[in-house]
Amino acid sequence: MNKSTVLFVFLISTFLLTAQTQQTEVESLKKVSDFPIGSSLRFIPFMNDAPLQKIQQHHFNSYTAGSDMKMYQISPRPNVYYWDRVDSIVSYTKKNNQRLFGHTLIWHSATPWWVEKKAKKDPVWLDKFMKEYIQKYVSRYKGKVHGWDVVNEGFNTKGAGYRTESIWYKTMGETYIEKAFRYAHEADPDAVLFYNDFNIERDTLKFNSMMKMVEDFQRRGVPISGIGFQMHIRMDTPNEVIAHTLKRAADTGLQIHLSEVDIIFNTHDDSKGGGVQLYNELTDAMRMDQAKKYAELVEIYQTTVPKAQQYGITFWGFNDRDTWINRFFKLKDWPCIYDENLKPKPAFYGFLNALKADY
Ligand code: XIL
Repeated sequence: MNKSTVLFVFLISTFLLTAQTQQTEVESLKKVSDFPIGSSLRFIPFMNDAPLQKIQQHHFNSYTAGSDMKMYQISPRPNVYYWDRVDSIVSYTKKNNQRLFGHTLIWHSATPWWVEKKAKKDPVWLDKFMKEYIQKYVSRYKGKVHGWDVVNEGFNTKGAGYRTESIWYKTMGETYIEKAFRYAHEADPDAVLFYNDFNIERDTLKFNSMMKMVEDFQRRGVPISGIGFQMHIRMDTPNEVIAHTLKRAADTGLQIHLSEVDIIFNTHDDSKGGGVQLYNELTDAMRMDQAKKYAELVEIYQTTVPKAQQYGITFWGFNDRDTWINRFFKLKDWPCIYDENLKPKPAFYGFLNALKADY
């Protein structure tokens, strides 16, 4: 071989090795986990992003749509139902042997304007529409969507009580929540039906309100089968409080899903654009602290939720490039296990090693 051939071979093998290392070096999360590991994804960019798909197929066996399955996407106008994208998601997950989780049937934030407008004029109509919407949707994907967030964020952002400003609450009262569960159960009796909310792992007043509803549902036979903790937490969210609420939730015997996990350094007031930038830069020390926090979260989940109730851990987007946090709260943060360049962070290894540990 002449000098330039040697150089060429060297470059090619280095390139191949690097490519291979990037794809196969890291252990697969789903392979080491006893419970499903998922991530939310926005389907349109995802479908055109081969590197992202490769990582997704390597690590995850559960798929949640970022927004593609919300009401404003499915029914943006009266009497219109768009199923095409959900159908594509169903075939992607089927092909890749992944559980499809439905997010979300009823959510004040995803209610299209036309539904709000019509409900204000004709309150009786809303219940009829809700029944039709849920039953059309859930029965169409019966046996294809494994579980659903039936109602999302039905309690106040902070403190006790229902989210009274929601059009659903304003029009139908608190019974809209149990009705949604009953309609979904009628349409697919095998689907795992969740109530899903945020800050319930730390705001005990909010948590208690939710638990009162859940326990009442259980007493009266309302078909709820799980509690989703969104788990958008911060580095300083106390582990003891998370452990306490998860344990109490697990005591109901229901499935427990950590449904939208991410861990931020900065803070926000829970509103759109409400970010408060405390840290401008991610240091190595912060990377290590985050790895520890991710590991602790896995440990808490494994030690407080009995195996049979571990529905899984789902990230709300798993990389710092695509995270909703920066867009939604107008922040610069690094909440995920993969970085902006789609490389695993210490947080990834913290999470992975905690999955592998014996407790
Ligand atoms: C977010 C999406 O990620 C954003 O792209 C969208 O702008 C707003 O909704 N809790 C939920 C999710 O239940 O549906 C939200 O998803 C994030 C907070």
